[in-house]
Amino acid sequence: TPADGTDLRTPIVAVLGHVDHGKTTLLDHVRGSAVTADEAGAITQHIGATHVPLDVISEMAGGLVDPTDFDLPGLLFIDTPGHHSFSTLRSRGGALADIAILVVDVTDGFQPQTEEAIDILARTETPFVVAANKVDAVGGWRSEPNAPIQGRLDAQTDRVRSDVEEGLYEIIGDLSDAGFTADFYWRVSDFKANVGVVPCSAETGEGMPDLLAVLMGLSQRYLREAMAVDTTGPAAGTVLEVTDQQGFGTTLDAVIYDGRIDAGDRIVVGAANAPIVTEVRALLKPRPLAEIRSDDAFETVDRVVAADGVKIAAPELDDAMAGAPIRVVGDRSVEAVTAEVREELQSVAVETADHGVVIKADTLGSLEALAGSLEEAEIPIVHAEVGDVAPRDVHVADTADEAEHRSILAFGVDVLDDSRQMAADRNIDLFEHDVIYRLIEEYEEYVESIQE
Ligand code: GTP
Ligand code: MG
Repeated sequence: TPADGTDLRTPIVAVLGHVDHGKTTLLDHVRGSAVTADEAGAITQHIGATHVPLDVISEMAGGLVDPTDFDLPGLLFIDTPGHHSFSTLRSRGGALADIAILVVDVTDGFQPQTEEAIDILARTETPFVVAANKVDAVGGWRSEPNAPIQGRLDAQTDRVRSDVEEGLYEIIGDLSDAGFTADFYWRVSDFKANVGVVPCSAETGEGMPDLLAVLMGLSQRYLREAMAVDTTGPAAGTVLEVTDQQGFGTTLDAVIYDGRIDAGDRIVVGAANAPIVTEVRALLKPRPLAEIRSDDAFETVDRVVAADGVKIAAPELDDAMAGAPIRVVGDRSVEAVTAEVREELQSVAVETADHGVVIKADTLGSLEALAGSLEEAEIPIVHAEVGDVAPRDVHVADTADEAEHRSILAFGVDVLDDSRQMAADRNIDLFEHDVIYRLIEEYEEYVESIQE
């Protein structure tokens, strides 16, 4: 560990992929075996994030991770629920995750959210590995729980192995179409230039040692320098979710990626209008092994050090936004920190035109991703905002003359009842989808249909 103030922080690993491809199961496996691997319970379960220490990773990875080869403290897996998980994960204009696992069901291949995840990974230049999951679902697969994958592939019949390989080569081909050269991870020597594909099963644990070894190796080799941070400085973090917590009111589920935060600290949080300046009333962490978000599962802690997940209770958080920055003021001036937060929010401010569509999204990150995709499709935006579709949005859309601009594109948000009625009355078209490019496709189909 480096001396004087700097420390090596835990790399942040995001897990992403198409619906039902096994993200949660994969994290459950990591959590579950980590708990069994370390009976003292060194593993802690945090808000939407799981911190797994190096010695536990090493134990889970069998012979594949020798702890003396590493000085990074472990891995912090981010597990945000819902479809917006990855686009929310931003920090200082870049990606919050240092590295990512793209989960692809080997029996199902690339799907819309796989493509969407790849787009975001490419845009944010986040290194990633592919977990080619559910190998055990291939007919005739013989399992050996938690074993490294190469031996398991060798142990299958020729037919089963060739069925699995067919799925794997398809994934490698799709990665190549998306602009990434990829190969089985054991053939990759430069993980920066090539994407490693790790065949695995989150269900049986086969290939999990390999996945952990690849993640650890990649982090140590390519991220170590970036992990040297001052963990005694004022914290910087990102809001994952704004939630109501009984007894605490509105709270923030957050990931702290720099510095430290103490109970009582003054903080600035990005919000819909002006940044919120408030004071931390309590820092909450799930009790070890407690179910995330179940009642009474939290205990208060005095301090959280990067990188880690935490639930922050403080007054006046109602307007806070998922994806927004959090800063501890420390001994800086509130004005300076507020300006920093405002600047960061403006950096995601979407370029708007005099004429165009109205867009709404559930988080800053998803708003940014949607706007980026619309720009690529050359669809102008007149108004962009985080939040549910409200009458105000219908009013804005109603000012447009061109039929194709009398449209609202809503990503992952609700449409308030009165706005739906109002939109119908005024001939405003509402497009709703949880997959960005589907949303855009639907809109483009509509535009084509009215131009015919
Ligand atoms: P969303 O959160 O809805 O996007 O899905 P997810 O990616 O988190 O998928 P989840 O982990 O919930 O898994 C979906 C289904 O696939 C569940 O029924 C799992 O039991 C199953 N599943 C996940 N991983 C595996 C695997 O490796 N093998 C098999 N056979 N089934 C799996
Ligand atoms: Mg899930």
